[in-house]
Amino acid sequence: MQEKRIVYFDKPGRKNTDATLKLAVDRARELGIKHIVVASSYGDTALKAAEIIDESMQLVIVTYHTGFLKEGENTMPPEVEEELRRRGVKIVRQSHILSGLERSISRKLGGASRTEAIAEALRSLFGHGLKVCVEIAIMAADSGAIPIEEVVAIGGKSRGADTAVVIRPAHMNNFFDMEIREIICIPRFKRS
Ligand SMILES: Cc1cc2nc3c(=O)[nH]c(=O)nc-3n(C[C@H](O)[C@H](O)[C@H](O)COP(=O)(O)O)c2cc1C
Repeated sequence: MQEKRIVYFDKPGRKNTDATLKLAVDRARELGIKHIVVASSYGDTALKAAEIIDESMQLVIVTYHTGFLKEGENTMPPEVEEELRRRGVKIVRQSHILSGLERSISRKLGGASRTEAIAEALRSLFGHGLKVCVEIAIMAADSGAIPIEEVVAIGGKSRGADTAVVIRPAHMNNFFDMEIREIICIPRFKRS
């Protein structure tokens, strides 16, 4: 049996970013975890994470797929991406696992897919940040950016970070092999 600390933020959102990143890196250090996976759309959270991460850790940034907001365009400015790569950060940009092609069908024809139902259950019960942790862990694993071993994953609601977990990732074709081993921090109220 082990007793561990979970930090609960009052509300979700960007203001919890610095605390989340610090708690996440501290826990990774404690557990000897080598890979930190962080969601970052425009690069702000990525740059903050790159500042505080240990040299022995590999930072993996998962960003929106090209065209997510505007056809053919990336959200992260190229100069930010270049700076991150210069610092040895890996950047993952690929189709979003928890929406996928199904989102186009739901938008056009209505209804929702089983994948979208899983995403919504995670969002509603545990908050946006935790859904993002699950999604980016799969995306990073499917891109070969992380091994299938315990990593720390960090997500947030819309911008910044407010949730961090220790997670055993899985590939898209083995979703139910995934395990959330520890919650490091999470908003106590999920909707602001
Ligand atoms: C693949 C991916 C999926 C995301 N899904 C959601 C989501 O379902 N809900 C949400 O509030 N934010 C979502 N986000 C936003 C992230 O949780 C995070 O807050 C954001 O990427 C941080 O970006 P910034 O560094 O530019 O602030 C997603 C981000 C990525 C990269």
